[in-house]
Amino acid sequence: MYRNFKIVPNIIFGRGCFNQLGDILKPKRTDADAYMVFVLDDVFKGRALEGRLPMEKGDLLLLVNVDDEPKTKYIDQLVDQVRAYSPRKPDGIIGLGGGATMDIAKAVSLMLNNPGSAADYQGWDLIKHPAVYHVAVPTLAGTGAEISRTTVLTGPEKKLGINSDYTLYDQIVLDPELLAGVPKDQWFYTGMDCYIHDVESLNGTYLNEFSRAYGEKSIDLCRQVFLEEHPDKDDKLMMASYFGGMSIAYSQVGACHALSYGLSFVLGTHHGIGCCITFDYLEDVYPEGVKEFRRMMEKHDIHLPRNLTKNLDDKALDTMANVALGLAPLWENCFGKDWKNVMTKERVLELFRKM
Ligand SMILES: NC(=O)c1ccc[n+]([C@@H]2O[C@H](COP(=O)([O-])OP(=O)(O)OC[C@H]3O[C@@H](n4cnc5c(N)ncnc54)[C@H](O)[C@@H]3O)[C@@H](O)[C@H]2O)c1
Ligand SMILES: [Fe+2]
Repeated sequence: MYRNFKIVPNIIFGRGCFNQLGDILKPKRTDADAYMVFVLDDVFKGRALEGRLPMEKGDLLLLVNVDDEPKTKYIDQLVDQVRAYSPRKPDGIIGLGGGATMDIAKAVSLMLNNPGSAADYQGWDLIKHPAVYHVAVPTLAGTGAEISRTTVLTGPEKKLGINSDYTLYDQIVLDPELLAGVPKDQWFYTGMDCYIHDVESLNGTYLNEFSRAYGEKSIDLCRQVFLEEHPDKDDKLMMASYFGGMSIAYSQVGACHALSYGLSFVLGTHHGIGCCITFDYLEDVYPEGVKEFRRMMEKHDIHLPRNLTKNLDDKALDTMANVALGLAPLWENCFGKDWKNVMTKERVLELFRKM
């Protein structure tokens, strides 16, 4: 069976295109009492972007904190805040920030139209009702969250996305100027998330010509961004992220992402840096990719944290391994149907012990 997948229907790209956001939202505003909700990463509090939001009378600004990756509890709390603000549903939700903020805005827009807690919908196609109209404005590039059909959340029992066609954004605003000001390490880690998506997709057993077309372009753009010098490198990274997301949409990620989920579940390691940490130990699996990744690290003088698992007991390591091994499609994409014989629990534990 082939997957019949949905993609984001409206995309605007270009330097300064953020200035058109007000015009894009205008036709979605229904009447004088209606309002929109701007979900803004609180790193922008008091900064220029906050002042540039095309807010109108009655609109609500939610400043969100992403020091921790988004939790279902936080989503429920934000949804309550919107409901307390007005008995009416908003005409739209606009998420501005990196992958975490984009995921928060996706989840809030879904949960405003679906009863219960966000935790009830972690999984595949559990959402029953379409989301409120939602728009993403990335300020950090690499995760592909702007184009994906999931919102990754940590719930009481699991770290798992709300995967559904309704999760996809209705509109994305890709303005490379908004990437200015990202701290270098964060820029690198999130950019590497994209590079690793490409390596895992292009070296996977699920690869098809659709995924290859997007993945090859994306990895080429990553090389230009991280190994060469280009004045328009932010434009390139923004398109690399989008293309990388499109590539994995029709294939899958692989060993690095599976291991990074284990690391993140037990240690709370953030996605981008977690992928970098695990990828650096996967030269047996992705020899060319890891070699090139190390050249990129060297060029940008990036030093990864080490000995993260040194003080973990056997139980914590066991949980880490189980979380990683639980992601069967990722391993199958990496090693094929026979993956369980290749990536044994002992091998996973050995990899984690080295990190
Ligand atoms: N939905 C998906 O398909 C998908 C895919 C991959 C990752 N994710 C999720 O995305 C998150 C990671 O996203 P991320 O790597 O983009 O980072 P992030 O959103 O967690 O942000 C990282 C840091 O950068 C800051 N920041 C963002 N933009 C900035 C800017 N322009 N200037 C200065 N600082 C800025 C943030 O405040 C934060 O401190 C994780 O929660 C992960 O689970 C989702
Ligand atoms: Fe990723």
